[in-house]
Amino acid sequence: MTQFTFDAPTVIRAKRDGGRLSDEAIDWVIDAYTHGRVADEQMSALLMAIFLRGMDRAEISRWTTAMVASGVHLDFSDLRRDGHRLPTVDKHSTGGVGDKITIPLVPVIAACGAAVPQAAGRGLGHTGGTLDKLESIPGFTAELSNAQVRQQLSEIGAAIFAAGELAPADRKIYALRDVTATVESLPLIASSVMSKKLAEGADSLVLDVKVGRGAFLKTEAESRELAATMVELGKAHGVPTLAVLTDMNVPLGRTVGNALEVAESLEVLAGGGPSDVVELTVRLAQEMVELAGLDGVDPAQTLQDGTAMDRFRALVAAQGGDLAAPLPIGAHSETVTAPRSGTMGDIDAMAVGLTVWRLGAGRARPGQRVQFGAGVRIHRRPGEPVAAGEPLFTLYTDTPERIAAAMAELDGGWSIVDGAEPIRPLIIDRIA
Ligand code: URA
Repeated sequence: MTQFTFDAPTVIRAKRDGGRLSDEAIDWVIDAYTHGRVADEQMSALLMAIFLRGMDRAEISRWTTAMVASGVHLDFSDLRRDGHRLPTVDKHSTGGVGDKITIPLVPVIAACGAAVPQAAGRGLGHTGGTLDKLESIPGFTAELSNAQVRQQLSEIGAAIFAAGELAPADRKIYALRDVTATVESLPLIASSVMSKKLAEGADSLVLDVKVGRGAFLKTEAESRELAATMVELGKAHGVPTLAVLTDMNVPLGRTVGNALEVAESLEVLAGGGPSDVVELTVRLAQEMVELAGLDGVDPAQTLQDGTAMDRFRALVAAQGGDLAAPLPIGAHSETVTAPRSGTMGDIDAMAVGLTVWRLGAGRARPGQRVQFGAGVRIHRRPGEPVAAGEPLFTLYTDTPERIAAAMAELDGGWSIVDGAEPIRPLIIDRIA
């Protein structure tokens, strides 16, 4: 067998100069970085080279496989309830603003009769992360052992957990990308999402691929390519996978920020909540139950009859959370009011995402603590009438010195118009 020897500067230089990374170079660099033999600054340079030069599908596939191989691979093929095999299915989003869909969706699927082993992430760039959101519930922990994940799946049908031993290479690379401006890269997003999802061992997978200003990739063509790449990766690994392209020009719902989004998710689970959050939750749930082979179930019904809420309460309790305790809210707030009457126009998801990040809901350094109570409440959605002086946005933070910079991000990110504001369709396409 040929013995390959590598060093980080040579691998970085190859990609910096626009070359392909060989399978062996990819396997080596992922393994060496996972085990601390490649330094953060070297991986940062390689990530920037990949960001600038890209990777072809074969490189992405190998990079993903190497990240899966960096950790354990869960297997739920023997999961049973009441003597029957329990199908597993999961969903992952490529990252959006106000995208709290996982929180109501996971208990909806559990209530429909499948199990969701959801390995979730923390905030990335201007987008929030499910783990940061759920950890705003007092006592909630996402650090679950594999045994606990398995037990929750068979008893409740759901576990939402930090990837931990799954794809540890992604955990390190994800944290590095967050603070080195290397998030917005098709190969890095595709491999990050798919490595976690393939390692978590769900039978099938639905991907929510975001399109528009608040998405990491800016053009619809790039989002379509990302969706197709990930669907191919899933299928190549034997996991039936489909993607739904959804609009991310405008934030989802009326809240952006960790605890604020949990509160809104509870409204959805109680049968209310913003119509776009409900629509996307139900649509993704329909795709998931179909992939899981469940017949005659209606995901929307589980939001109305309380069965999804019951699953969420059970999930939170199993993970140490106390839903009776108040959710945190920033101690300082500032409200933007309408300068004139009219119709709420467009709201730029990127502007709102950066506002919330500046308020303290995201990270600027690795490992930084996020503020659970920081965020923005959107009082008027595009198309809704506004009267002069009415509140449009309320900003919350624990650190009032952040408000000026946050206000500057929001400035220019919304408008009041005369007449009707065209509303974009939320669901753009389905790629299978
Ligand atoms: N979600 C992930 O898990 N990784 C990314 O890179 C983007 C969104």
